Amino acid sequence: MNDIITTACKFVTSSIGRKILVALTGACLLLFLVGHLAGNMTIFGGESTAAGGSSWIDAYAVGLHSMPAWLLWAIRLGLLAILLIHVGLTLVLKYENYNARTHYQKEGTLKATFSSRTMVLTGVMIFCFLCFHLWQLTFNGNPADCYHHILAAFSNPWCSAFYIIAICCLFLHVRHGVQSVFQTLGLATRKIRPLYNLVAIAFGVVVCGLFISIPVCVLTGILH
Ligand code: HEM
Repeated sequence: MNDIITTACKFVTSSIGRKILVALTGACLLLFLVGHLAGNMTIFGGESTAAGGSSWIDAYAVGLHSMPAWLLWAIRLGLLAILLIHVGLTLVLKYENYNARTHYQKEGTLKATFSSRTMVLTGVMIFCFLCFHLWQLTFNGNPADCYHHILAAFSNPWCSAFYIIAICCLFLHVRHGVQSVFQTLGLATRKIRPLYNLVAIAFGVVVCGLFISIPVCVLTGILH
């Protein structure tokens, strides 16, 4: 038992161990994002189902809330723990990297893409967005009337603009994040790296494009 704890401690305190944990927690957050997007897409089912019942998205939100409270909270706390590990270890790695660089290296970051240079900034923006989003839709929402709540929120152009900007930051973050997961887990060779780059861009465009389509469709009256 002691050996397992010692190995786990060594792993977390080593730079590569931290990097792997950041990659794995990032991958979990990406999976959540895909699941959340799939749920949100039910909004395009319209205000009510063909049978005249509540909308698909209301049914989806009510379904989520009808799971046992302990399970819902276990999932939420698990997600929060994953997010905190991801953010905390990233900041530790950034700090260590910065301290390990020479003055010359600190002057300019060569060959780094825009999205990689702005990871901390986009991460902070996503975190602020998440706080607002949870306050607006989770803690002040009514699952049985999720459709109208989302419509009311996005009918405000400022609110929609904030979502669109935050999701553009998410695009930059995810675009670099997806690529880094492959790199850190040792799956990227020099030959296959451009392919992963394309996969990362395609993933970001599809996921973020679909998220953005919701406020855009509310503002343009397609969703009403
Ligand atoms: C147009 C875009 C989005 C819409 C319409 C939307 C909609 C919603 C709704 C309705 C809920 C409340 C679910 C419920 O508890 O009944 C929710 C929760 C949540 N959303 Fe979003 N969301 C969007 C984008 C995002 C993005 C980009 C992220 C992540 C960066 C995100 C992360 C979350 C999280 C973590 C929760 C809490 C889940 C829980 O209830 O435990 N959402 N969202």
